[in-house]
Amino acid sequence: MMGSLEDIRRRCDSFEERISLHSGEEFLFRALKTEDSALLASYFQSLSENTRKVFGPHPFTKEQAEALCAQIDCGPALRLIALTERGARPKIVAYFILGLRLSEGDEKRYRDRGTVWDNPDSVCSIAPSVADEYQNRGLGGILMGRTLALARHVGRSHVLLQGGVRADNARGIHFYRKCGFRKVASFSGTVDSFDMILDLAQAPRVKRSEHQRNVTAARIGSKER
Ligand SMILES: CC(C)(COP(=O)(O)OP(=O)(O)OC[C@H]1O[C@@H](n2cnc3c(N)ncnc32)[C@H](O)[C@@H]1OP(=O)(O)O)[C@@H](O)C(=O)NCCC(=O)NCCS
Repeated sequence: MMGSLEDIRRRCDSFEERISLHSGEEFLFRALKTEDSALLASYFQSLSENTRKVFGPHPFTKEQAEALCAQIDCGPALRLIALTERGARPKIVAYFILGLRLSEGDEKRYRDRGTVWDNPDSVCSIAPSVADEYQNRGLGGILMGRTLALARHVGRSHVLLQGGVRADNARGIHFYRKCGFRKVASFSGTVDSFDMILDLAQAPRVKRSEHQRNVTAARIGSKER
């Protein structure tokens, strides 16, 4: 499986999938683009205190959204967004980060416990978030499946949690277990947390639904016309 930076950039730029919930509601899941700055800022501003408490990869400001969109670079991290087109204009309802280079903190925690990867490029990290009003509806599970498939495509074999998961985040821990992650250690930083990891070789592969195949076929057909 190819995992060169060029291959990753190509896959990241073109990553775009339509997904649907059991309710029939549809979303576009795609890579963040330069023009998404205002949408991303609205998403950040919409997050509740509860969500911000457990999901904190960076500040949730308009300036942060502008900076992330001004420097789209898939080398260190792929930033993925799910959009709903219900309403007057598109709205971001989920933001997932797939870290392709481990942060110093994540790398150090694992190294201090004696975990050394033969190939550091085989490990990636994940930080998922879903808008408050869309949580607990199965969206995160579907997006996680797509993100893990992408991680496989860019040559990763293991996925760990960016900064771990807070020990008091019962839903987060249940969610990661349901997605195939296993707890490997506890640690205490500002709060008690767990490190969890997923071996992609053992994780169930996402089966694309008939609906997804039809949507993709329709899109390919429309490009060819
Ligand atoms: C974690 C998160 C990404 C999951 O996305 P989601 O769309 O809510 O996930 P799903 O609906 O697919 O699954 C949620 C699961 O948690 C379960 N759950 C909900 N509340 C729970 C609780 N208090 N304790 C345990 N499990 C809980 C749901 O029943 C569901 O499990 P099931 O499918 O076995 O029934 C999302 O909830 C979120 O953004 N949370 C806030 C930010 C966060 O915690 N990010 C991770 C930081 S490490």
